[in-house]
Amino acid sequence: MPVDLRESWFVGSVEIPTRLVLAPMAGVSVQAFRRQGRRFGAGLVCSEMVSCAGIEHRNERTLGYLRVAADEHPLAIQLFGSDPDTMGEAARMVEAAGADIVDLNFGCPVRKVTKTGAGATLLDDPDRAARIVASIVAAVELPVSVKLRRGLRDGSRDCLEVGPRLVEAGAASLTLHPRSAQQMYTGSADHTLTAELVDLVDVPVVASGDITSRARAEAVLETTRASAVMVGRGAQGNPWVLGEIMGDEHEPSREELVAELVLFVRETVRELGERRASSFLKKFYGWYLGRGRFPRPFKQELVQLDSTAEVERRLLAAAPGAIDLLERLESEIPTGAEVTLELPISVYGGG
Ligand SMILES: Cc1cc2nc3c(=O)[nH]c(=O)nc-3n(C[C@H](O)[C@H](O)[C@H](O)COP(=O)(O)O)c2cc1C
Repeated sequence: MPVDLRESWFVGSVEIPTRLVLAPMAGVSVQAFRRQGRRFGAGLVCSEMVSCAGIEHRNERTLGYLRVAADEHPLAIQLFGSDPDTMGEAARMVEAAGADIVDLNFGCPVRKVTKTGAGATLLDDPDRAARIVASIVAAVELPVSVKLRRGLRDGSRDCLEVGPRLVEAGAASLTLHPRSAQQMYTGSADHTLTAELVDLVDVPVVASGDITSRARAEAVLETTRASAVMVGRGAQGNPWVLGEIMGDEHEPSREELVAELVLFVRETVRELGERRASSFLKKFYGWYLGRGRFPRPFKQELVQLDSTAEVERRLLAAAPGAIDLLERLESEIPTGAEVTLELPISVYGGG
């Protein structure tokens, strides 16, 4: 019997309406991305990782990540750090901001993060990792989830030691991306480890890594007995993969593609302002228009344009039929001050 992706599940007391989770991605997971993911079927969305040190120092840019819009629930805000007390304080701010879940990053392999004792380094220090979870569980009422890699070095199985310790310390769910930090994004995610982790803990486990189709999502859910699958890179510039995973198989027409991209551009500009959105969006043009969907020179032309208004004009000229679709999409999304909050772009590069 295939697992029903439309069945709900719980992280602590928070009900997640589907078994599809949109991955936290630094430099990607802005509100526009999260809102789009939800529209295409994600039951839970997550902020990118937020620095606890930045929160402690009241860094304005960092605090911007803690803004939660009215239409974002359920939403997890992800923290990274290495000091249990500072992280407890930061978690209190996440709670005050209105998030539904505090997620902890124990997986980021990027040196800027690991050299501070945060991210994947914690997989090598189960005592500290457990102390961090206990400190946060004591600080907030919200459920606390943790996202892990398999370990620091290739072949590591440390997640199987650390994971149960975190649950003992009070974690309400675990997400496993079963690559080592050393691997970064090479090789493949070994979900046999996810199955082993599921066996070891009595909280929901989310499987992250290389899930890019309904067939793969179903196979991973079935073989690991994880509670949900998480999709990251596959959804970059391709929300339709989320729809396909949820059972709505459908290749977007050129008009749908352009309408979705223009909506994304508009929402991102509202969120980040023209100047920041303009550089933030460049990678998305390649992601949306690649996969043979548009000729390469067209993508290159968009990246060279100075303003997002120009980008929009060029896109709509290439697919005039997108205008009606765009109007329909815009009429369906909530607007107004409570949903268009500024969110800074991360200076970090991965997890
Ligand atoms: C650009 C990028 C940024 C990421 N940032 C984060 C992050 O902030 N926090 C985190 O826990 N994982 C982060 N990740 C890891 C993803 O959440 C996910 O676990 C990983 O990409 C594997 O899933 P996928 O194969 O579906 O992409 C990031 C991945 C990418 C590609």
